[in-house]
Amino acid sequence: MDVAAPGLEGVIADETTISLVDGESGRLLYRGYRIEELVGRGTYEQTVALLLEGSWPAGTPPLPDPAPLPAAVDATLRSLPGGASPLDALRTAVSVWGIVEEISYPPHPNQAWRLLTFAPAALGAFARLRGGEEPVDQEGAGGLGVAGRYLYFVSGERPDPAAERALDAYFTVGAEHGFNASTFALRVIISTRSDLASGVVGAIGALKGPLHGGAPSEVEAQLAEMGSAEQAEQWMREALARGERLMGFGHRVYRARDPRADALRKVAEELAGDDEWLLLAMEVEPIALRLLEERHPDRQLPTNVEYYASAVLRGTGLTPDLYTPAFAVARMAGWCAHALEQAEKGRLIRPRARYVGPTPEDRR
Ligand code: ACO
Repeated sequence: MDVAAPGLEGVIADETTISLVDGESGRLLYRGYRIEELVGRGTYEQTVALLLEGSWPAGTPPLPDPAPLPAAVDATLRSLPGGASPLDALRTAVSVWGIVEEISYPPHPNQAWRLLTFAPAALGAFARLRGGEEPVDQEGAGGLGVAGRYLYFVSGERPDPAAERALDAYFTVGAEHGFNASTFALRVIISTRSDLASGVVGAIGALKGPLHGGAPSEVEAQLAEMGSAEQAEQWMREALARGERLMGFGHRVYRARDPRADALRKVAEELAGDDEWLLLAMEVEPIALRLLEERHPDRQLPTNVEYYASAVLRGTGLTPDLYTPAFAVARMAGWCAHALEQAEKGRLIRPRARYVGPTPEDRR
């Protein structure tokens, strides 16, 4: 009898040359480079070029100059309720963008770069419009990378270089992670020979779910409840006794270590300065690891990427509801690389289901 694989757990759906997610030894490679190495090696745009083209770029990658939002996108963003989630606004904006920019199959690296130029501008415009402010002048974003533009379009001010560098590192760390749910959703869409914008709209829809897009904001909420390093141990002991989980620890694939957490921790340390909240996160981490080891001696529950993502994103001055949209912008690099790879393979993704419903005999 055919065996079903709910959640496709353990199923090798295809081959890829884009990234290796190695949970056993705690490694993440983009095109053969360790993630820890890439964070210090160059900019997010260079990582995007690496993911799209397969090799580290010799020169500056071709991020197009910022351009005014298409009129239809501007009008759509203005028509959305101010209480809409920024991630929903981004999904809607990408859908309109795909129409007016005539994004068609097959995907092309130029479409990817245009998307990465568009997304921070659209998100920033929505973030401002919902607060009753006008979107900022596109020309003011000149010379900035994707991370710098995200901060600029939201705040209206040229970003602090340290915050820009930190967000750039976060974008690099979040750029790609194998056949995760949003990337796989995009590959299914592209495999039907649908266009890149449709694939990215589907991917954003998948990322929106709390099991995927995650919530560095939940880490932030727990730290806020602890209040101080002195109170942290008691707070965590009580939470664990109630059967609650410490957010930012443990991972389904990475057992010994999550290499993304290590990379972001360094960034958080550089950014922390004398910011009390960031220092609290660093003081709480070893206490949390000790308590988790006491409680689960047979299971490794390392610090995961969400813990330091929270520290970095907060340090950049973004509000918590702009964290998951930042993750979406970062992951657009991986989505686009997978769209190119999927289109090259050209094989329709169409698994089968094992039917366990009634037969005509049962219906007699
Ligand atoms: N705090 C306390 N206990 C934990 C934690 C945690 N963070 N993580 C796992 N455990 C415990 C569970 O309670 C369970 O205990 P039990 O056997 O006594 O019931 C045991 O460890 C195994 O739990 P599973 O859920 O089976 O472990 P798994 O490794 O599959 O789960 C997960 C991974 C979901 C990330 C989990 O560690 C968790 O809930 N962490 C907190 C939420 C979080 O940080 N999520 C972000 C993950 S990173 C990302 O997705 C991008």
